[in-house]
Amino acid sequence: MKSVITGSGIGIPKNVVPNAMLAKIMDTSDEWIRTRSGIEQRHYVDPGQGSAELGMIAAEAALAAAGVAKDAIDAVIFATMTPNYFFPGNGPVLQARMGLPNIPTFDIRQQCSGFLYALDLADSLIQSRKHRRVLVIGSDVHTPFMPWQNGWDVTIGRGDGTVTPEQYAHNTSLRDRTVLFGDGAGAVVVEAREGDARGFLGSRLFSDGSNIEALYVPGAGFRDRPFVTHEQLDAGLTVPVMEGKAVFKEAVTRMPEAVRAVCADAGIEVASLDLLLIHQANLRIIEGVAKNLGLPPEKVPHNIERYGNTTAGTLPILYHECVQQGRIADGMLVCFAALGSGLHWGAALYRA
Ligand code: UT7
Repeated sequence: MKSVITGSGIGIPKNVVPNAMLAKIMDTSDEWIRTRSGIEQRHYVDPGQGSAELGMIAAEAALAAAGVAKDAIDAVIFATMTPNYFFPGNGPVLQARMGLPNIPTFDIRQQCSGFLYALDLADSLIQSRKHRRVLVIGSDVHTPFMPWQNGWDVTIGRGDGTVTPEQYAHNTSLRDRTVLFGDGAGAVVVEAREGDARGFLGSRLFSDGSNIEALYVPGAGFRDRPFVTHEQLDAGLTVPVMEGKAVFKEAVTRMPEAVRAVCADAGIEVASLDLLLIHQANLRIIEGVAKNLGLPPEKVPHNIERYGNTTAGTLPILYHECVQQGRIADGMLVCFAALGSGLHWGAALYRA
């Protein structure tokens, strides 16, 4: 029995925000963002469009690509750290709005590694023979984390560009994080197949919570009563905190370790990978991982320049674009890898 990806789709919001638009509302520049991260633009949702809505667009497209009817799907896994509601998760939101049967829906977090963990779970559900057709979604919207003052219309070219010195200073205080992130979703259908050469060959997942402060949201948690307060909002405690350099270092060491481990488990040389699809957090990280593993750039595609970091969305969006571009041929060995808040990280090996 193999778990095979039979279709994929993406949900990308329409508002395109080039680096230059961010430079209108804070002290940053196209040059700084490109040089440090490789990002040229990102997409922003409009208010009212959440990770569930983007995920639904991606899911509908994935079902169509797979040629699978809604009533044939028997489980959903929705990976997001930015659900529409605190609870319930996006699973039942999507299930009802898409008109899926009353099947189980799993809501998982794992942030930037969310889609990787979701793939592993889908494979496990199929291998256990509990489910045969699993819809897997990775979707995140980061714009609600960004408490910009008078910034939204300006960034998407609707406003007059007026930002007061106080607003500009406030926006600048968050620039090290906000410029990196965008909104986006991807989805795949994973199906049980007998006697198919394609399918997942294995995965290695890891967690290390010894320094969650490296990348976390300090406020709006259930240690406090109520779980979010005016004081927390005023102090900016609902905005993610990131030790950029520390996370960078973890990413360029842990992801290669995971890729080596999953290849060793399968008895495969790293050099024989045809494609390595890495979480899109920073082009320098992607290049660093490729170099560490001795893989040439053509085997390590990226699209961070167009979307920024969409957290759980990056891997399915990248996978889908590679399929669209004809970069994934039958028989190819594809490796997925990710690292993010938790820390959670890992790699999965797939025969296309
Ligand atoms: O997906 C989740 C996982 N997250 C990651 O993988 C992120 C990993 N880390 C990174 O990608 C990089 O560390 C960053 C892109 C976040 C930062 O790059 P860096 O080369 O580590 O820059 P830095 O934090 O050392 O900042 C260098 C300078 C600072 O100024 P001083 O102190 O040298 O005067 C910052 O204040 O750049 C300044 N800076 C900015 N300048 C213009 C920080 N953000 C900006 C900005 N525009 N947006």
